[in-house]
Amino acid sequence: MRRPAGRPGGRLAGRVALVTGAASGIGAATARRLAAEGALVGVADLWAAGARRVAERIRSAGGTACALRCDVSQEAEVKATVSELTASFGPLDVLHSNAACLDRDVYGRDRDLLDLAVEVWDRTMAVNVRGAMLMVKHTVPAMRDGGAIVLTSSVSGLVGATDHAAYGTSKSALTGLVRYVATMYGSRGIRCNAIAPGLVMTDAAREAMPPERLAEKAAERLLPWPAEPDDVAALAAFLVSDEARCVTGQTIVLDSGTTAHRPEHAIRAWERAKLDR
Ligand SMILES: NC(=O)c1ccc[n+]([C@@H]2O[C@H](COP(=O)([O-])OP(=O)(O)OC[C@H]3O[C@@H](n4cnc5c(N)ncnc54)[C@H](O)[C@@H]3O)[C@@H](O)[C@H]2O)c1
Repeated sequence: MRRPAGRPGGRLAGRVALVTGAASGIGAATARRLAAEGALVGVADLWAAGARRVAERIRSAGGTACALRCDVSQEAEVKATVSELTASFGPLDVLHSNAACLDRDVYGRDRDLLDLAVEVWDRTMAVNVRGAMLMVKHTVPAMRDGGAIVLTSSVSGLVGATDHAAYGTSKSALTGLVRYVATMYGSRGIRCNAIAPGLVMTDAAREAMPPERLAEKAAERLLPWPAEPDDVAALAAFLVSDEARCVTGQTIVLDSGTTAHRPEHAIRAWERAKLDR
């Protein structure tokens, strides 16, 4: 089968990529970035209209993309999504498994562990962990040797917090999954890494966070600026490119320095900066 051409000349020219959770936020930014770098992109999401909108935006910018409706927690849907994408664009080169359950009635109810409803834990694990595993399970056989996988984890999977234990534990599991996938398929040249973002200023994060919470987050960082979705997309594009050909099995933190220090050190640095002004 003749592969449709992606944008010529880019770092990912002609590569076939699947991005999940791509209807909004980080996934949409990555889908757009991979397409801008020449990849042919499958924009997969549970939210079909959002995925169609992102795919249309990519096409109107001169890129190649198709929208795919998929619940990543359902094996039959994952299998069908991979088949549909490879039938349109050919064997896969790139997977960015990025979908996570951030719904108000799941993530929003993931508070104190002692009150946690079992269905909140189960849905979180089904989407965030089983979904990533199913994506790997069905994309690796459809991947050309030398393919690259990126999972979106979170700093919540690396440090503790007083809420969101189900979410944080699901993201910790991805750090393990990355190492297993990198080990199992490294001999085929397939690489697998994770990105662990801190706060990323998606539209949803901007809407959901009151100014006092944003100020708290700012005080935790070493850098004055939080990450934008495009910052995560840039790292994902690097990780799936040949420039990262020796990087595998890693979880790379992208958090403006939030977890790089003991908290009291940042607090002191911010206080000093206030006195100096
Ligand atoms: N925004 C942040 O501050 C931040 C920080 C750390 C990690 N993350 C991670 O980044 C990733 C993207 O999050 P975001 O902030 O862009 O949020 P978002 O809500 O904008 O994007 C998540 C997308 O996943 C989709 N989705 C949810 N359940 C799905 C399912 N079962 N199957 C397929 N798609 C599904 C949603 O429809 C949505 O489009 C997530 O893995 C999240 O945990 C985000």
